[in-house]
Amino acid sequence: MTVHVEKTDDLAFVTIDNPPVNAAGQAVRAGLIGAIADTDADDTVKAVILRAKGATFTAGADVSEFDKPAAPPHLPDVILALETTTKPWIAALHGSILGGGLEIALGCNYRIADARSKLGLPEVTLGLIPGAGGTVRLPRLIDPIAALTMISSGKPVTAAKALSLRLIDAVAGGDMSKDAIALARTAIAQPLPAPLSQRPAVAVNDADALNAAKDSLRKKARGATAPKAAIDAVQRALDLPADQALKAERETFMRLKSSRECAALRRVFFAERSAAKLPMVKGLDPAPLNTIGVIGGGTMGAGIAAACLLRGLPVTLIERDDKARATGYDRVAGVLKNSLDRGLMDQAKHDFTLAMFKSSTDYADLSNADLVIEAVFEDMDVKHGVLAALDRVLRKDAIIASNTSYLDINVMAAQTAHPSRVIGLHFFSPAYIMKLVEVIITDHASPTALATGFALAKRLGKIAVPAGVCDGFIGNRIMTAYRRKGEIMVEDGAWPWDIDAAMRDFGFPMGLFEMQDLAGLDISWAMRKRQAATRDPATRYVNLGDKLCEAGRLGKKTGAGWYDYNEGRAVKSELVETLILDESKRKGITRKKFPQDVLIGTILTTMQTEANALFAEGIAQRSEDIDVVMVNGYGFPRWRGGPMFMGNDHSKR
Ligand code: COA
Ligand code: NAD
Repeated sequence: MTVHVEKTDDLAFVTIDNPPVNAAGQAVRAGLIGAIADTDADDTVKAVILRAKGATFTAGADVSEFDKPAAPPHLPDVILALETTTKPWIAALHGSILGGGLEIALGCNYRIADARSKLGLPEVTLGLIPGAGGTVRLPRLIDPIAALTMISSGKPVTAAKALSLRLIDAVAGGDMSKDAIALARTAIAQPLPAPLSQRPAVAVNDADALNAAKDSLRKKARGATAPKAAIDAVQRALDLPADQALKAERETFMRLKSSRECAALRRVFFAERSAAKLPMVKGLDPAPLNTIGVIGGGTMGAGIAAACLLRGLPVTLIERDDKARATGYDRVAGVLKNSLDRGLMDQAKHDFTLAMFKSSTDYADLSNADLVIEAVFEDMDVKHGVLAALDRVLRKDAIIASNTSYLDINVMAAQTAHPSRVIGLHFFSPAYIMKLVEVIITDHASPTALATGFALAKRLGKIAVPAGVCDGFIGNRIMTAYRRKGEIMVEDGAWPWDIDAAMRDFGFPMGLFEMQDLAGLDISWAMRKRQAATRDPATRYVNLGDKLCEAGRLGKKTGAGWYDYNEGRAVKSELVETLILDESKRKGITRKKFPQDVLIGTILTTMQTEANALFAEGIAQRSEDIDVVMVNGYGFPRWRGGPMFMGNDHSKR
């Protein structure tokens, strides 16, 4: 039974039990209708407590049902039935209360939530708006600006925030059951409150603030449709009687459900969860992860150490000398302090977390580490030195991961005593924020080493994508290809700022030249120098990037790169314009104009061509993996589904 009813004294407990996340699929909806009928008909029942088994109340509609015809009872009808019960229903909430889950809770008369729960209407992240009354009932319960923000951004709120918004009536203490029963007793003694759909919308106190919030949310949505449809739906909820607003909401939901944006976002959602399910690691137990070692406390090492600590994993950081050790320590401590200052952790948690962090210059301090990630300079000799030192001190079953961006991890592994324990874990910067990790499958990696790499990524809350060994793995290799193509277009007549504008208009947060300036042009310069000896002389080579670096224009950090920087703001550079014109002339190129759709079309085609080469070489396993990498690591607009999704149907671009 996905919904069962138990009765004790004058209370009924209705429990949703539909693992893994209690999605409100057809069986749950039918179960709820049955539970409403049962408890309504039973005169001994005076109040009903609605709760759920497992880690989460409910994750909302069952997204896997979206491709099938909708089967009754429909969620809006279940919630209307809840609103018309004759007994008070108390929603006892825990874990994630999302989408249809929160809409169900809004159909109840009272809501109490566990202190750690998260409540939200994330439908826009799937290209939808709430379709079971969320846009209509929420602004009838809480401040309309807060409701608008929750619905159009899709971001959940904590239980404490929900209480302050009066979205919930209480936060449970240690014992949810006891507190929910107490709330039920209070409810029995009072008249039933009017259902939300029969109440007027909460008054808008500040129309200007509402308009400003709408403008800001529209801007954040960039090209995505759903967040804008959500804004319109909330406005309708404020302007229209509830029944009309509910009807319009449902129509919008049904229209969006069959949109390409919704299909794109659903694909990314499921692809992110299935990427780590490699057949070769299926059913394998990962090695335990009690202590993590990190070598190198620079940008990446410090970020990775912080990511581990923030997820409760003790870390020992090794640096090459005491000065670098102290700097690395401060970097990591700075991230933790920032979390404290932003209220993401309290002082006790901060102190506890910092106490799990050790730094040293002695590799022997890693003798008990379960997994060690190296993030030292991008130089094969330095990496070899580090791996040799690790070979001497690590337990035989400990796993070694390299965070290299471009170097050949098979070559690194071959130099060690146990190549089977060497894998790649390619994090993105800043590693404690960026969700993506490429798990690099080296030639001799043991399945357990790989399973442990995926397990670490999961523990860190990351999205892990498998990739084979090549220069740049999946993401950097594709990025190198479209960067090269972008530079060729610049030599042929486009301007960097035109390409950047085309990418931004398409939905990237920034264009590829702005992105290079931000990351620093010296990283790819070093890679090009390394490849110079083996480069095919027949391949067209654009040396604009080299010339910028030679002129000391290493990007934003030096105040100049592809752009000049005026108080941190990128502005067109006359010097770069001249450099480009000179270079085109030197190569005898007649510069031509590129329309914007050609610029973005060429970038996309380059991504797809490189991705197909990655499949052919066995580096990437599935087209969805490419999309997950591009969306989560390179700013590809999520709502477009990724370059491979788009490649299947260019007409819908
Ligand atoms: N419908 C169908 N399946 C869902 C689902 C949903 N709404 N939400 C999660 N799942 C599935 C996942 O695909 C995954 O399946 P798998 O084990 O076969 O890969 C499983 O439930 C566990 O989900 P996962 O995300 O890995 O678990 P988590 O504990 O990290 O996160 C949630 C749990 C609820 C926070 C997260 O799954 C989530 O945000 N779900 C979507 C919520 C949403 O957008 N609801 C609105 C729907 S319109
Ligand atoms: P960085 O220069 O900021 O840091 C490297 C650190 O390694 C320095 O603190 C240095 O003191 C330390 N180090 C050098 N040799 C050492 C040794 N023998 N023992 C211990 N510590 C040593 O470099 P970074 O940007 O953090 O990059 C580190 C690695 O991560 C490189 O392989 C790089 O390609 C990769 N990477 C970088 C990024 C990025 O965006 N910066 C992203 C992904 C991967």
